[in-house]
Amino acid sequence: MTGGLRKLHVKSYGCQMNVYDSHRMADLLARAGYAEADAEDADLIILNTCHIREKAAEKVYSELGRVRKLKDAAAHEGRSLTVAVAGCVAQAEGEEIVRRAPLVDLVVGPQSYHRLPDLLAQAAGGAKVVATEFPAEDKFDHLAPPSHAAIRGRGVTAFVTVQEGCDKFCTFCVVPYTRGAEVSRPVAKIVAEAHHLAAAGVREITLIGQNVNAYHGAGPAGPATLGDLLHAVAAVPGVRRLRYTTSHPRDMDEGLIAAHRDLAPLMPQLHLPVQSGSDRILAAMNRRHTGADYLRVVARLRAVRPDIAFTSDFIVGFPGETEADFRDTLRMVEEVGYAGAYSFKYSPRPGTPAAERNDQVDEAVKVERLARLQAAIDRHQHAFNRACAGKSLEVLFEKPGRLPGQIVGRSPYLQPVQVMAPSSLIGEIATVGITGVGSNSLFGALPSAREREPAPAATGA
Ligand code: SAH
Ligand code: SF4
Ligand code: F3S
Repeated sequence: MTGGLRKLHVKSYGCQMNVYDSHRMADLLARAGYAEADAEDADLIILNTCHIREKAAEKVYSELGRVRKLKDAAAHEGRSLTVAVAGCVAQAEGEEIVRRAPLVDLVVGPQSYHRLPDLLAQAAGGAKVVATEFPAEDKFDHLAPPSHAAIRGRGVTAFVTVQEGCDKFCTFCVVPYTRGAEVSRPVAKIVAEAHHLAAAGVREITLIGQNVNAYHGAGPAGPATLGDLLHAVAAVPGVRRLRYTTSHPRDMDEGLIAAHRDLAPLMPQLHLPVQSGSDRILAAMNRRHTGADYLRVVARLRAVRPDIAFTSDFIVGFPGETEADFRDTLRMVEEVGYAGAYSFKYSPRPGTPAAERNDQVDEAVKVERLARLQAAIDRHQHAFNRACAGKSLEVLFEKPGRLPGQIVGRSPYLQPVQVMAPSSLIGEIATVGITGVGSNSLFGALPSAREREPAPAATGA
C-alpha cells in the first residue's frame, strides 16, 4: 500500500465472533498500512454486520445512512472514503447491498476476510466488489500475531475463535447459511494464539464458536474435543481464566463436563441456550433434544460443579407456539433458575424452513409472551445477584469503572463488579467483598489492610 498511513474504522454488530473477526481484520489491515481511527477521520469504514434477526439486519442500512453523510463530507474535502460491508448480512444479501446502498464499495462475506487487501485494491479501481464465496481456507491462518500493544489496547480478556460455522440447521436460524459448515482450528494454532495473548497480558480467554462444543480440531494424538482443548489452553502460563461459548446442549460430552470439575481456570458459568421448554417446539426447531434431556445436562454439570451458573437464549412465538408451549418455557426458567438470559421474539429469516410455515404467531402475542418471559428471567437474575451480597468473590479487574476512582471487573459468574480501587489493579484478580447489588452489576470493596492481615486464631464458628 502506498500513500502513508491510512485510517480505518471498524464497527461490529452481532456475536463475539464478529468482534474477533473485526480485530483480525484490523490486524490484517495494520500490515497494509492502516491505523484505527474514529469514523469521522476514516479513509475506510467496515461495518461488520449480523443477520440473525430482522432488526439486526436492518441496522446496517440505518448505519449506512449515517456513513453516506461522512462519505459526502469526505468528498467535499477532496478525500475518498471507502465503505465496506462485512459479516453475515454481506454473506446473506451480497450484491443486493450495493443495489440498495450504492455508496457501498465492497461487500465481503466472513470467509473472505483474508483477501481484504486484494479486494480493497480492486475497489480502489472504481469497481463494486462483492466477495461471498465459500468455503474458505482457514481465513486468518497466515496472519502474523498482532503486537502486544495492540492486544493490551483491547483489554485483559480476549476471544479466540476455535470453531466456525454450524451443521445443526435449527429451523429458525441463518447461521448455517451465513457462516457455512463447521470447521475447527487445530489445537496447536489455538494454543500458540493463547501463549501470545497471555504474554501480552491477557488473563482471561473465551474460546468461541457458533457451536463451540462441537469442536473437533486436529490435536497431537488425532482429533481433539473441546474438553481436550480446554486442558491444553488451561496449561498456558498466564491464562488465569477460561470460558467458552456458545454451546449446544447435545454436544455436552462427558469429557467436557469433567473439565468443569478438573480445571481450576474454567469459570463456573455456562451459556447453554435452550430456546424453548416445550418438547413439541424443540422438535419443530430441530434442536434434537427434549426439555428433560436439557435438564439432565444441567444436573450433570451441577453434580461436578455445584456453584455453576447457567445463562440461556430463548425464542418466543416460534411458528405454532401455543400458550401451553410457552408455559413450558416459563417452567424451564423456574427449574433451571438462570443467572441471566437473552430472550427474543421469533423473527422469520428468509431462506429458513420456519419462515415458510403458515402458522406464524401474531406480533401482539409475541410481545406479550416476551414481557412475561423477561419478567421471569429478571426475577431469577436479581435473586442470583442478591444471593451474592455479603459473599467474597474473585474479580478480574478489566477497566476503569463508572465513577472516578472506580474500576470494574467480572466475577467468576460474569457479573460486572464495581470497586473503588487503584487502576494499577487492572489485569489482576482480587478477592472482593460484595457490599451491594444493582440491577446489572454488583458493588464491592477490597478487604481493608487490617482484614488482609493473617487472622488471629479462630474463636469458634
Ligand atoms: N449458536 C448458538 C446461537 C447463535 S444465534 C446456539 O446454537 O444456541 C443467538 C441466538 O439468537 C440464538 O440462541 C437464538 O435464541 C436467537 N435467534 C436465532 N435465530 C433467531 C430468529 N430467527 N428469531 C429470533 N431469535 C433468533
Ligand atoms: Fe443456529 Fe442452531 Fe446452529 Fe445455533 S445450533 S447457530 S441456533 S443453527
Ligand atoms: Fe449474527 Fe452472524 Fe454472529 S448472524 S450472531 S454475526 S454468526
